Amino acid sequence: MYPKYYQTSFHAYEEGNLGWEPALEVESASKAVHSTLFDGEPTVEGDRLLRESYHNILKANLPEPPQKIADLGCGAGLSTEALQELFPEAEVTGVDLSPYFLAVAKYRTAQTNSQLHWHHGAGEDTKLPAESFNLVSVSLVFHELPKKAAIAIFQEAKRLLKPGGHFAMMDMNPQAEVYRTMQPYILTLLKSTEPYLDQYFALDVGTELVNAGFETPFLQENTARHRTIIAKVKG
Ligand SMILES: C[S@@+](CC[C@H](N)C(=O)[O-])C[C@H]1O[C@@H](n2cnc3c(N)ncnc32)[C@H](O)[C@@H]1O
Repeated sequence: MYPKYYQTSFHAYEEGNLGWEPALEVESASKAVHSTLFDGEPTVEGDRLLRESYHNILKANLPEPPQKIADLGCGAGLSTEALQELFPEAEVTGVDLSPYFLAVAKYRTAQTNSQLHWHHGAGEDTKLPAESFNLVSVSLVFHELPKKAAIAIFQEAKRLLKPGGHFAMMDMNPQAEVYRTMQPYILTLLKSTEPYLDQYFALDVGTELVNAGFETPFLQENTARHRTIIAKVKG
């Protein structure tokens, strides 16, 4: 059932995303990786601030608060929880291909956010009903995908969205100074834990979104390393 590209090692875990260790450690890993994103001393608040920087752009560019949101590649639910906080009235569904990450997401949020919904499936073929969401959000997932899967997710997002709905993604920004000027040996090290980084960096997101049936997207940097891209369903 799992696509071949997904059954490989990621983030130095041999089992990739299909195991308890990566699922249980992802929250602290996210906090560690994002601790140095903002000026000043490294802070555990970096991860929250990263999501806030994405959400500020999202809120400013949506015509109204979305009622139904799908969070594709929700992982252990950090992005799903943050979306629910941003839009408290919305019904938010987290979708992920890893049953381990989903189990941790359910456990983590059971006390505080029991209204969240969880769905096991691939972002490119969720099996969720067509035209049933106002917003499809995908955070920190595309850098983990080969080009073919990324394009399939744009198409699935279009299928899932109601007319006038919005797609939004937040991820590494290939145009960021830090990546453009990175020493080749550091980039090689990064690629050893992110097997599809080359394909993500080469992906023409704007063109592929338009090909999938969206209007020309809006793009804005949200940190020195990340970008937010928002596109409205065409027509
Ligand atoms: C780096 S985590 C990001 C999690 C979360 N969105 C966040 O912002 O913290 C990437 C997640 O995407 C999931 N993922 C990768 N490819 C996927 C696919 N094709 N369909 C669904 N989930 C996928 C992985 O299982 C993992 O949980």
